[in-house]
Amino acid sequence: MTMTDTLAESSPAENPLAAGLERTPVAPTTLVIFGASGDLARRKLLPAVYNLAHEGALPERFNVIGMSRRELSDEEFRAQVGRAVEEHSRRPPDPHVLRLLLERASYVPGAFDDPDAFGRLAETLAARDEEAGTAFNPVFYLSTAPSFFEPIVEALGAHGLDRRPDADVRVVIEKPFGRDLASARALNAAVLRVFEERQVYRIDHYLGKETVQNMMVLRFANGIFEPLWNRQFIDHVQITAAEDIGIGTRAGYYDSAGALRDIVQSHLLQLLSILCMEPPVSLTAGPVRDEKAKVLRSMVPMLPEEVPGRAVRARYGPGFSEGLPAAGYLEEEGVPEDSRTETFVAARLDVQNWRWSGVPFYLRAGKRLTRQATEIAVTLKPVPHLAFQEGDASGVRPNQLILSVQPNEGVSLSLVTKIPGAKSRVRPVNMEFLYGTSFLSQSPEAYERLILDTMRGDPTLFARNDEVEAAWAVVDPILSSWGGDGGPIPTYPAGTAGPREADALLEPGVGWRPL
Ligand code: BG6
Repeated sequence: MTMTDTLAESSPAENPLAAGLERTPVAPTTLVIFGASGDLARRKLLPAVYNLAHEGALPERFNVIGMSRRELSDEEFRAQVGRAVEEHSRRPPDPHVLRLLLERASYVPGAFDDPDAFGRLAETLAARDEEAGTAFNPVFYLSTAPSFFEPIVEALGAHGLDRRPDADVRVVIEKPFGRDLASARALNAAVLRVFEERQVYRIDHYLGKETVQNMMVLRFANGIFEPLWNRQFIDHVQITAAEDIGIGTRAGYYDSAGALRDIVQSHLLQLLSILCMEPPVSLTAGPVRDEKAKVLRSMVPMLPEEVPGRAVRARYGPGFSEGLPAAGYLEEEGVPEDSRTETFVAARLDVQNWRWSGVPFYLRAGKRLTRQATEIAVTLKPVPHLAFQEGDASGVRPNQLILSVQPNEGVSLSLVTKIPGAKSRVRPVNMEFLYGTSFLSQSPEAYERLILDTMRGDPTLFARNDEVEAAWAVVDPILSSWGGDGGPIPTYPAGTAGPREADALLEPGVGWRPL
């Protein structure tokens, strides 16, 4: 392959799906994936890299190096990458693009606590630079078990891979970033002993989702919402991340995490912070993250005695999924019999600042629920007076703005409308925007956008150290309370909407949005 036959030029010329990603030039990059033979790399990262290549969005000069414990040759690794792309890419791979990408892939075997392995990695990086006659920007992507984050960062520092005079070095750290506030602080300190904050990209893939980025556009590019976006007009907010799937083969990780750490501390608090933030002076990394961090810091942590009335946990028992019998959590392979891990969490949180004081934020996340649905529902206050004649107002409901993250990406606003006919009956109807209909294109996967941003050096859609710590501070009291005796853990049948106990968190007259 000549250097002119580059990945950036390899995408099919008339690609109708290429509209989603910009093609700004990106500096030469070598992406190093630690944990390259793991599940996340196989299902998400490698297919995302392929799709960037397909779009022509990768840098013209690009290498991907996999590193993990398994002994693999370059050839074997390339075959593994090819299979991952074929099985998990959102579009069928173009053989030419895939071949060019695989030519750029190589592998370094080694345990993450083996200094020799990092020596070999340093040599491989230097060899790539020498072949191309250019200094590639290294992006180190830590897609490993969290226990390896610190050793890898230290080893990168010890081998002088943390900084280069002629290139930008960045490190991407997967979630979970810590398992409570104390460990997150310790991890931040360890990472920042080696790297500067501007080099660190703490990934939360929800921030790469189109609909999540669109929350900022919706709020800050439309005049209609801002005057209503406060405690005077908003009654309450519900943020839901419901999954119909169970824990699959991830018992090892999941049982040590649970729904609160896995989804609420990261994804849901990120959604909440974007929903609630003040308008930033610009939509760039510093101002956006400053405003998000301020929201998280406004969430006064619960007192231990408040936890039982404000947070509910549960786990799925046997039930159904897609019409077939599904095992309960305790029967899933790899889950200890005496596990006390929750697969469902619901909580009422408050943002105590001028804009939001008194508005309840109800968060809910769980596995093996009725269906997959991630959405934010903003319910406005009822109108102050119903001037309708008796009975005619029975269909009046407060307006709701629904930001639907998945599976049907879009925005809908409910409006009460007259039902046609001689009678004056009314009911809510929806005004809807659906991505699929308006743009006729498939949204890029979150990881595509985020991997591209690491290569462009734009950390806007990544969590800063203070945000991560502030989010842990919110969930810490709940973790501590549940970590103690915490009482019995309610069960909900797999395939249902979760435990009834979650209803008790809501203000009178409010119900959870049906799943
Ligand atoms: C991950 C969690 O961060 O997000 C998983 O670890 C969860 O448990 C997943 O299934 C959900 O992501 P998405 O993009 O499918 O909503």
